[in-house]
Amino acid sequence: MTSDPDSFSPRGKRVGVVHYRGHVGQRLNAWRKRTPLNPYWLDWRHLRRSVEALVPHASGTLLDVGVSEGPYRELFEAHVDQYVGLEYPPSILDKQPEMWEMLPQVKALVQVFGDGAHLPVRSGSVRTVLSTEVLEHVPDPRALVQEMARVLEPGGKLLLTVPFIQPLHELPSDYFRFTPSSLERFVVDAGLEVISITPRGNFATANGAMLSQWLIRSFGARRRQSDGSVIPSPLRSLLLMPLTAALQVGFHLASLVTNDEAVCQGYAVVARRPESRAS
Ligand SMILES: C[S@@+](CC[C@H](N)C(=O)[O-])C[C@H]1O[C@@H](n2cnc3c(N)ncnc32)[C@H](O)[C@@H]1O
Repeated sequence: MTSDPDSFSPRGKRVGVVHYRGHVGQRLNAWRKRTPLNPYWLDWRHLRRSVEALVPHASGTLLDVGVSEGPYRELFEAHVDQYVGLEYPPSILDKQPEMWEMLPQVKALVQVFGDGAHLPVRSGSVRTVLSTEVLEHVPDPRALVQEMARVLEPGGKLLLTVPFIQPLHELPSDYFRFTPSSLERFVVDAGLEVISITPRGNFATANGAMLSQWLIRSFGARRRQSDGSVIPSPLRSLLLMPLTAALQVGFHLASLVTNDEAVCQGYAVVARRPESRAS
């Protein structure tokens, strides 16, 4: 297993859903992501916080369904016995067929290849199933939740995050946005108990995040890609930076004094398989 992705990939190259960057690039990017200098700061901050809040619920063997590059692996690893990342090859290969060539290296990030809707995992064998921002990408999210519930041990937990307000992404496989009621319905119908469904951000942060992204997409982009993302123009992004930073800070401050959650950026779900249910 290769531990240094740069030993096999050009720096910054994006292959499928996996990004490879050098150590310096990774560090700089990680720092920038944490500040309003990043036009996606409000988005990233609230998603990250909502995933962090899931960490205390994790234990035992954790299966991350739709792991991609495993952005939260280091958050959970200290809390679980084993962290198993699962990816769906067709959804990667649809995007970039050259991914096949890198499959051995990608295995450093992905331990199991399989379809979340038909998990290659024994019923009742996993303590924690994590799936962040994946449900919107499958044609039948209800079936995915049922499948994730199937592999949970009695007492095991399902940890999900989903978007509510979010631009289209990873096209063409972006099918849904979710409300708390739909999430509750999926979870209960899968035989699980809801522990919590928590919004991330609120009306103010969702507005700030969308305005900042709109500025970048409309005035700072060099090119739109077929998957819905944009390639930013470095110069125009730099010129827009004071505006996107000020907007995000302004809406962040507004979010501290208003608390309307009728609109938010997404939801985090914690659900448990009852102890008594037979597998
Ligand atoms: C928006 S990305 C989220 C990736 C990662 N979980 C994160 O939070 O950054 C959605 C992921 O779901 C994966 N995916 C899509 N369909 C899937 C399926 N049927 N089974 C498992 N993963 C799937 C995609 O390959 C992609 O990596």
